[in-house]
Amino acid sequence: MAEFSVRGFYDGLAADYHRIFPDWDVSMARQAEALSGFIRARLGEGPRSVLDCACGIGTQAIGLALAGHRVVGSDLSPDAVSRAAAEAAARGGGLQAAAADMRALPFRAATFDVVVCADNALPHLLSERDIEAALSGMRRVLRDDGLLLLSVRDYDESRRTRPEATAPRVSQASDGRTITFQLWHWHEDGERYDLEHFQLLPTGGSWEVLVRRTAYWALTRSQLTDAVARAGFTDITWHTPATSGFYQPVLTARRTPSPKHPLVGRRYPARRTDPRSVRRPGHRRELAAAAAPRR
Ligand SMILES: C[S@@+](CC[C@H](N)C(=O)[O-])C[C@H]1O[C@@H](n2cnc3c(N)ncnc32)[C@H](O)[C@@H]1O
Repeated sequence: MAEFSVRGFYDGLAADYHRIFPDWDVSMARQAEALSGFIRARLGEGPRSVLDCACGIGTQAIGLALAGHRVVGSDLSPDAVSRAAAEAAARGGGLQAAAADMRALPFRAATFDVVVCADNALPHLLSERDIEAALSGMRRVLRDDGLLLLSVRDYDESRRTRPEATAPRVSQASDGRTITFQLWHWHEDGERYDLEHFQLLPTGGSWEVLVRRTAYWALTRSQLTDAVARAGFTDITWHTPATSGFYQPVLTARRTPSPKHPLVGRRYPARRTDPRSVRRPGHRRELAAAAAPRR
């Protein structure tokens, strides 16, 4: 298949994206609760400044804003971002939203306590170079010791089983039921795949079929752990849906603090971490194949 525009895919999907969920508001609340749990456990109580750098229409960003955090949402898709801002306003949540590519985040260094990149957004980047650009940007905008929260599909499982499709999902809206499913076409490298996203919308007793195309890199947890360590994060840990309550595996990691001057207590500028010296306690942790929470 030809190269696809990720931006075009999500601009086209923005108006219908909520239909992926049986009840989008319920999913927003459930996901925010799980993500807030990670934030509380690692940074303590209290509202935090959060960047969701692939916020889409706001599934995580709006929930986190309604939970009291100060949230900025950015995304490659201008249509998704403007819907996120409107949906947040309609629910009384404050969300600053901006169209931005996560490979070139337009925010000042050391601005946020937390960076979120959820629901398989990072694997849209198809090269090591792009992944590195995105992760180093996330590190740059985080404060010292800030928290990275990354959620992805369980691609360790997909790389073993090479699925060709996802099961149909049915959601109920005021105008009837919508059916969503995907067809996957694996590349010869066994790692990347093209995706056809089908949505069947009810139209006067029949169905309108919408097909949109994009591509993903099915990164394993080990590949992602290495990339995150190379970008200068430490304390990298994977969390299973069974333990976190989030429907996908979640990686948490901390921005390595800048070293303090031994005499005057001032901070030196950030130093690149030698990835070979990074401790990765969660690297070898097995993910339990337990019943997954719903998205
Ligand atoms: C599966 S959607 C998830 C969106 C949102 N987190 C949610 O759960 O509703 C993936 C998102 O990643 C965004 N994305 C893909 N590549 C991106 C990039 N290079 N920079 C910023 N966002 C990107 C897409 O526009 C899309 O909104």
